[in-house]
Amino acid sequence: MSFNPFSLEGKTIVVTGASSGIGQQCVIDCSKMGAKVVLIGRNEQRLSETLSSLEGEGHLSVTFDLTNFDDLKGCVKSIVEKAGPIDGLVNCAGISTTLPLKLMNAEKMDEFFHSNVFSSIELTRHFCQMGKVNKSGASIVFLSSIMALAGENGKSLYSMTKGALLSAVRSLACEFARRNIRFNAVSPGAILTPINQDLPHMKNPEARAALESKHLLGLGKTTDISNACIYLLSDASRWVTGQNLVVDGGYTAR
Ligand SMILES: NC(=O)c1ccc[n+]([C@@H]2O[C@H](COP(=O)([O-])OP(=O)(O)OC[C@H]3O[C@@H](n4cnc5c(N)ncnc54)[C@H](OP(=O)(O)O)[C@@H]3O)[C@@H](O)[C@H]2O)c1
Repeated sequence: MSFNPFSLEGKTIVVTGASSGIGQQCVIDCSKMGAKVVLIGRNEQRLSETLSSLEGEGHLSVTFDLTNFDDLKGCVKSIVEKAGPIDGLVNCAGISTTLPLKLMNAEKMDEFFHSNVFSSIELTRHFCQMGKVNKSGASIVFLSSIMALAGENGKSLYSMTKGALLSAVRSLACEFARRNIRFNAVSPGAILTPINQDLPHMKNPEARAALESKHLLGLGKTTDISNACIYLLSDASRWVTGQNLVVDGGYTAR
């Protein structure tokens, strides 16, 4: 086999949000890199279509709502029973909104923190229990956003949730380094996926052009983000932990 430091051969990788957009691209590309993947999402049909498009064998699809905290521990146990201890987890599932402060309330904040923060931290907590990850170590990736680093109108709620993940990553990296479990975040700029295709700044041609112009290299593709995840999951990043990898076509360079 030729030199490939980014190979995922022999690794078992769990990806949430695998039924759509970035998570879907991640499972497809991780399977191409040799990984056995576990897909988690809510939409059974899109999960099964994605499962059938994967390379290799032994993949597993799990239909599960990650905000169902009562059953999360059992879900993780059943995944490890079927797929064995894992080598990587990509926390991709999430929801987005553009919401001015006047329309925000405690209920909305609760919904967004449950979906974007608590679910991925809870899932990570259950996987980090002894016996659930490979004894030699693992790599955990969280999908944050450039909205955790830069402001835009109406993005405060979404940004708060993505900023919380960046903060968590640094301390979790410290807490788990002794078990060689690495924690990193990827912060994408705008990638056209179902999460944002109906948002006002994507549907309105002028707003979309303005957004595009803020990305020096134009809008991104889902593969731009799956490639970053592959790097962080692979042994090529064995000495990288507690970091935020910004993949934004130059949005934050200006
Ligand atoms: N697209 C962008 O421009 C962009 C930029 C920066 C950051 N991000 C982040 O990247 C991640 C993926 O975004 P995307 O653009 O790929 O979005 P997407 O196409 O809308 O996909 C979101 C995925 O999350 C899953 N999901 C949401 N809530 C869930 C829950 N409670 N339980 C289980 N699965 C749940 C969805 O599952 P179902 O479809 O099965 O319901 C879907 O698979 C998100 O965290 C997002 O914030 C995206």
